[in-house]
Amino acid sequence: MRPRAALALVASAGAFSGVLAAAQAADAPAPAHPQGGATFQANCAVCHGPAGAGVPALAPPLVSYPAHYAASIEGRRQLAMTVLYGLFGDIVVEDKHYDFRMPDFARLDDVALAATLNFIVFDLGHAPANVKPIEPAEIAAERVHVLDGAAVREHRKSVSP
Ligand code: HEC
Repeated sequence: MRPRAALALVASAGAFSGVLAAAQAADAPAPAHPQGGATFQANCAVCHGPAGAGVPALAPPLVSYPAHYAASIEGRRQLAMTVLYGLFGDIVVEDKHYDFRMPDFARLDDVALAATLNFIVFDLGHAPANVKPIEPAEIAAERVHVLDGAAVREHRKSVSP
């Protein structure tokens, strides 16, 4: 695509622009979870960056640990808990400390949260094909056990790499 056409497209695409621009710049395939990508750009990219690379000392990268979490039952629970209840307190991601507060996103429905996590796990994290996509029912299962962000951090200790 010619640069000017690409620019016009990006300008008109609103919340999708980050994903489109990134995909076009790298000649990458279209996202496998575009709906989740739109939710990510609208709600998460402000802290984690449009490609999930994180922001030093503010919000951790999401390009490797979430794909690791998605490969185990407790790790999948951890992902659901994090988006439902947030995360609070010092954590280490790829040898760097983050000590801030991730807000909760319980206001988003189970379908939207599952899609957002699948965008992170598969489109940003490139989880292997034997990892099953996160189902809305897995989000629903955690909605009934209400936690706070400190408890989500406690659970994380058992699943972080
Ligand atoms: C206001 C900034 C902010 C926004 C918005 C935000 N996050 Fe976070 N996120 C954080 C911070 C800060 C942490 C680390 C919390 C800590 O230090 O305990 C985090 C941690 C995480 C983790 C845990 C990573 C790990 O290794 O355990 C995941 C997963 C995550 N965020 C996903 C999301 C998703 C999905 C969204 C959008 C629905 C989102 N975040 C929106 C700031 C944010």
